[in-house]
Amino acid sequence: MADGFSLNDAICGSGNPNPQGWPGPWGNPPAGAGGYPGAAYPGTYPGQAPPAAYPGQAPPAAYPGQAPPGAYPGQAPPGAYPGQAPPGAYPCPTAPAYPGPNAPVPGPGQPSGPTAYPGAGPAGVPAGPLTVPHEMAFPGGVMPRMLITIMGTIKPDANKLVLDFKRGNDVAFHFNPRFNENNRRVIVCNSNLNNNWGPEERQMIFPFECGKPFKIQVLVESDHFKVAVNDAHLLQYNHRMKNLREINALAVSGDVSLTSVTHTMI
Ligand code: GAL
Repeated sequence: MADGFSLNDAICGSGNPNPQGWPGPWGNPPAGAGGYPGAAYPGTYPGQAPPAAYPGQAPPAAYPGQAPPGAYPGQAPPGAYPGQAPPGAYPCPTAPAYPGPNAPVPGPGQPSGPTAYPGAGPAGVPAGPLTVPHEMAFPGGVMPRMLITIMGTIKPDANKLVLDFKRGNDVAFHFNPRFNENNRRVIVCNSNLNNNWGPEERQMIFPFECGKPFKIQVLVESDHFKVAVNDAHLLQYNHRMKNLREINALAVSGDVSLTSVTHTMI
């Protein structure tokens, strides 16, 4: 790592078994255009061990400052969302109804249901479901070691999901899983400066599934954003907008129900 730090370091402690940073859930992909040509997902990156089988890897609950899976404020356990579709074939099946995202959204401080999410988690973290589109402000911008975690569920008939790390109207990092682009699933990454999109970086590894819960982690590093989905490294995107302090918001939109958007420093 150019800055001498990776999340792998954080989760593996001092005895990092993966000094090259690859392969592994948070290592760097091989040089090239942002992907792992020919590799299927999941678990078939060359040499990739099954989830949680990395030597020295601490359990997911051991991310510094991060709550364990299922313990995020307001987070329902995986598979517990009402109306969740079974693992669907691709292209996404069209579901007749999806109560999750269409359920009434509680007002500030209101509980969302008798046994459901509290109105707000500890420390004022809003508990899900969040309205979509959702925007989170970063008043001081972003900085290396900032970890942003987005949790939710893809709608059964999803077409797209969009994360936009923004500087005003500019988009520093656009992360855009497309569920059906000419009958293919692809993740498109790009930046938009002065209303102009730059060259796209495309990733064919596609870890999202219609109707299923997801966790996206975006780790800001000095040279790039690093993205993991469901605890597996997916891609990195070199900073085109170099002044990280000016990247002052994250917008989440698309065909998802959103449980939580949180950030912490690691
Ligand atoms: C365009 C699309 C934008 C954005 C961009 C990324 O075709 O309209 O929303 O995804 O591609 O390059």
